[in-house]
Amino acid sequence: MTRPKKNNILSRRDFLKSTTSAGLGLALAKGSLTKGSLAASHQTARGPSDDLRLALIGSGEQGRVLMEACLRIPGLSFAAVCDIWEYSREYAKGYLNKYGQQPAVYVDYRELLAKEKDLDAAIVATPDWVHAEQAIACLDAGLHVYCEKEMSNSLDQARRMVLAARRTGKLLQIGHQRRSNPRYVHAIDRLIREKKLLGRLTAAYAQWNRAKSDMLGWPKKYTIDAATLEKYGYSSMFEFRNWRWFKKFGGGPIVDLGSHQIDLFSWAFGTNPSTVLASGGIDYYKGREWFDNVMAVFEYETAQGTARAFYQVQTTTKHGGFYETFMGENGSLVISEVPERGNWAMREAHAPEWDSLVKDGLLLSEKPPIQRVDTRNIFLDIRVTAEAGRWPLPVELAKPPHQPHLENFFDAIRHGTPLTCPAELAYKSAVAVLRVNEAVKSRQLLRFRPEQFNA
Ligand SMILES: NC(=O)c1ccc[n+]([C@@H]2O[C@H](COP(=O)([O-])OP(=O)(O)OC[C@H]3O[C@@H](n4cnc5c(N)ncnc54)[C@H](O)[C@@H]3O)[C@@H](O)[C@H]2O)c1
Repeated sequence: MTRPKKNNILSRRDFLKSTTSAGLGLALAKGSLTKGSLAASHQTARGPSDDLRLALIGSGEQGRVLMEACLRIPGLSFAAVCDIWEYSREYAKGYLNKYGQQPAVYVDYRELLAKEKDLDAAIVATPDWVHAEQAIACLDAGLHVYCEKEMSNSLDQARRMVLAARRTGKLLQIGHQRRSNPRYVHAIDRLIREKKLLGRLTAAYAQWNRAKSDMLGWPKKYTIDAATLEKYGYSSMFEFRNWRWFKKFGGGPIVDLGSHQIDLFSWAFGTNPSTVLASGGIDYYKGREWFDNVMAVFEYETAQGTARAFYQVQTTTKHGGFYETFMGENGSLVISEVPERGNWAMREAHAPEWDSLVKDGLLLSEKPPIQRVDTRNIFLDIRVTAEAGRWPLPVELAKPPHQPHLENFFDAIRHGTPLTCPAELAYKSAVAVLRVNEAVKSRQLLRFRPEQFNA
């Protein structure tokens, strides 16, 4: 793809220069970049014609995670940052300045789109309820969009996003980042689906358990005035900060956390669920609108027969943390975005040997040498020390977990690489996830019709 060189873009050369001077020193000190990862950047570095100018809309917790991951990818520059909260705007601007980037800063995304005429893509990391409005406006403005999950807390709005991507012909990647994680691709595509490591897949289990926590506060000097809050749809700072727990803005913990993992069930089973049954409630906290705990059971009609998946989210105990387990007649596979919590397979005694997979490098042997990895880089996945009966998975990810998903998005813009989580696919996932809340409310088994999964 040939692109004209644009002003103020950090080309690959500029990128290397800026990270070497201001940014790299800082990043190395913080342990967020390693010499190894910079070397990897050199290898994948692209020419200036591939430079892309980005806007970040929503620079809260997740916006910063994505921004930091983008700074590790050559040829990207943030031309604009938008957030309705001064605290988030200042954070993003200050951080980018340290990397030699001088983004224009906006309060309102409409002003950003009206003024910035030389953008290639937008990253949308605002609360779920504004994703559709903002992503569609960006697509209509001719930008490719990376939008965080959940697509929307309303299925109608999520459908509008799919249609907008189709209508404009622009890319819309949704932030289910496990879809691009090489560890998950290896586990689900290679081992479970292609190699049939587990034989017939009969069941799955996933959980995301978090310790009890208070609602979020804010530094008083960064209180947003009532008129501005109202303009952007919030009745108070409390509501603005704790949007996840309110029906208007989000889908509660089951959607917030479950969206990542319930998506994996469909991926591994190779089909969407046929039914869902769920129980949950607001049983522990007061003043929250969404269920603080949910247990859900999905049924899947797979090519080999019926299979079931159980999912739970807890907000009063962190027991077991978050991970996913896939179970089949010949064994099981446990995986987590945090590899220490899951990165291995276990074989049933009667199952065929897995030696040929070990020989082909697709699985490590049951008893690999103990590896001691001495590193302070929190992003480096450590190959698990094998316990008897555990066959470690061989793929590691020496990057922040969102980086491969962003890389996939930028590769799609630059080279036409297929997106790993285009809006159509994420919509199917939203259909399954948003329905859980309905199932909790109705206390009934809810059925899905196959056509419901198509926007
Ligand atoms: N993929 C992941 O692993 C992951 C992890 C966490 C969050 N998320 C998703 O990222 C999104 C943001 O979550 P978060 O944890 O960063 O929330 P957050 O509350 O920390 O940040 C949201 C930011 O958006 C800003 N904002 C709110 N309304 C806005 C508007 N109309 N225009 C511009 N800015 C606005 C807020 O001021 C805030 O800075 C959510 O959709 C969430 O589900 C994804």
